Amino acid sequence: MNKAIVFACSHRRGGNSDRAARLLAQGITEAGGEAEVLYVRNREIMHCLACGYCDKANKVQGQRRCVLGAKDEAWDLFQHFFSSPCILFASPVYFYHLPSRFKTWIDRGQQYWQARLDKEPWIASLPKRTAHAVLVAGQPSGDKLFEGARLTIKYFVQNFNMDLADPLVFRGIDDRNDLKGQETFEAQVVELGKQAWASSS
Ligand SMILES: Cc1cc2nc3c(=O)[nH]c(=O)nc-3n(C[C@H](O)[C@H](O)[C@H](O)COP(=O)(O)O)c2cc1C
Repeated sequence: MNKAIVFACSHRRGGNSDRAARLLAQGITEAGGEAEVLYVRNREIMHCLACGYCDKANKVQGQRRCVLGAKDEAWDLFQHFFSSPCILFASPVYFYHLPSRFKTWIDRGQQYWQARLDKEPWIASLPKRTAHAVLVAGQPSGDKLFEGARLTIKYFVQNFNMDLADPLVFRGIDDRNDLKGQETFEAQVVELGKQAWASSS
C-alpha cells in the first residue's frame, strides 16, 4: 500500500489536531501522494493486560502475538505500520502526555517491542522510515510541554523501524478552532505533509 497514514489522536472531534491531520493529508496530496486520516478515538481498543503472553517467543511467533488477538481494532491500526511508507500523527497534549485512547493503543504495541527483542525477522526486516508528528497544547509556555508525548511516540514507532523526526509543535492552541485560520501555522503543517511524502517516496 503506497499510501500515507495520518493518525488523528484527539478525543475531540473537529478540533485542532483533527485540523492538523487534514492539513497533513492536504500536503501529502499536493506533493503527489495519497493519504488516509484515521481517527484513533473511533476505534475500539482494549488495554494491554500485562499478561506476558507476548513474551513467550517460542510459543507465540508472528505478527499477532497479543492474547487479545483480533478482539478489538488495535491490529487494524497496527497493520499500517507494516505497509505504509509514510506515517504521521496529529495529537493534542493531555497532562503533558498523550490522549488516553492513543496511549492505550501504544501500550498494545508491547507485543512488537518484544518481537524486536526476540529478533523476529518479520519485524527486524521492516524498511527504515521516518515518522512525523504535529503536537498541539493549550498552554503558551513550559519547557517540557511536549517531551512526554514526543518520547512515547519516538519509542512506539521505533518498534516498527521508524525514527521520529522532531515534532512540529504549537503552543497556546486551546479552543477547538484556535489552529484554524492561523495561516502561518497552517502553512507549516501543509509543508510538513509535503516534505514527509517527498522524503518517503
Ligand atoms: C484532558 C486534557 C488534558 C490537557 N492537558 C494539557 C496539558 O497538560 N498541557 C497543555 O498545554 N494543554 C493541555 N490540554 C489542552 C489541549 O492540549 C488543547 O486544548 C488542544 O488544543 C486540544 O487539541 P484538540 O482540539 O485536537 O483536541 C488538555 C486538554 C484536555 C482535554
